[in-house]
Amino acid sequence: MRLRRLRKSPRIRDIFADSKIRTDKLVMPMFVDENITKREEIRNMPDIYRFPLKHLVDKAKEYEELGVKSILLFGVPKHKDPRGSASYDDKGIVQRAIREIKKETDLVVFADLCLCEYTDHGHCGLIKGTKVDNDSTLDVYARIAKSYADAGVDGVAPSGMMDGQVRRIRKGLDDAGFEDTLILAYSAKFASAMYAPFRDAVFSAPSFGDRRTYQMNYSSTREAIREVELDIEEGADVVMVKPALFYLDIIREVRNRFLLPIAAYNVSAEYSMIRSAAKNGIIDLDSVVNESVSSIFRAGADIVISYFTEYLLKIEKN
Ligand code: PBG
Ligand code: ZN
Repeated sequence: MRLRRLRKSPRIRDIFADSKIRTDKLVMPMFVDENITKREEIRNMPDIYRFPLKHLVDKAKEYEELGVKSILLFGVPKHKDPRGSASYDDKGIVQRAIREIKKETDLVVFADLCLCEYTDHGHCGLIKGTKVDNDSTLDVYARIAKSYADAGVDGVAPSGMMDGQVRRIRKGLDDAGFEDTLILAYSAKFASAMYAPFRDAVFSAPSFGDRRTYQMNYSSTREAIREVELDIEEGADVVMVKPALFYLDIIREVRNRFLLPIAAYNVSAEYSMIRSAAKNGIIDLDSVVNESVSSIFRAGADIVISYFTEYLLKIEKN
């Protein structure tokens, strides 16, 4: 037996590959900012921008032409307060962005559902005393979900890691007649240092403490499985593992145990680290982007949320 026969030429290698990047399964994150009139490049994330609403729509159209199928929206509001009230405003920045993009394109639109971009303290839930309060936060999440659904979102992506959030959001959506709105649940979301460029980008770093009482401990595999199990029970349509690259084992474990689609979030610092290493001549950008995103699909992800989406579509076209 000579296994090298299967590696003889590029085409032979290609047709026998058992896992590949599929660009139609990539989701591009997009940032819409209510405070700016020109796009602003995000520090440490070259080629990734915050857009004012009207430029966001143009960019979304450009993505659609390039072959992007879906996006995940994040908002930066003008107004922040302790309750994050701008998050469920029908005329809020994300709600307006959903309406515009759904009107102007055929993209599938997911929207991140959380409070950290909207609260003045930067936590993902409401504060009671010195703690992030679980159950009162759920009411706000349900309001956000309904406002996104009203705007025509295809799926909401709750990322706050409050217990019971999927159940509450599902019930809120169903009661309001939005039975068809998907829930893409950030199920196994770990307290990770790999979100740093993102927090910098949307000004959502917590002003006190950290997120370790709600996001998961990265040393716990079984608990990650319990989180996924619970979200499935509560009505998640898609479960997510986040970050992706340091958590490929978790993606594989979830793949082996459950049947529903898995999303993996190739997060901001995963992007920044590769861009930075490439810029410094340490690695070849094309090769490492392909190798790293391939590893996420190979681990068992069905869809991958990645800041490299645009880049991968561009290299595919050449
Ligand atoms: C908000 C949220 C975060 C990310 C997605 N949604 C940041 C956080 O939890 O602090 C991170 C995305 C990234 O790093 O690319 N809860
Ligand atoms: Zn949050």
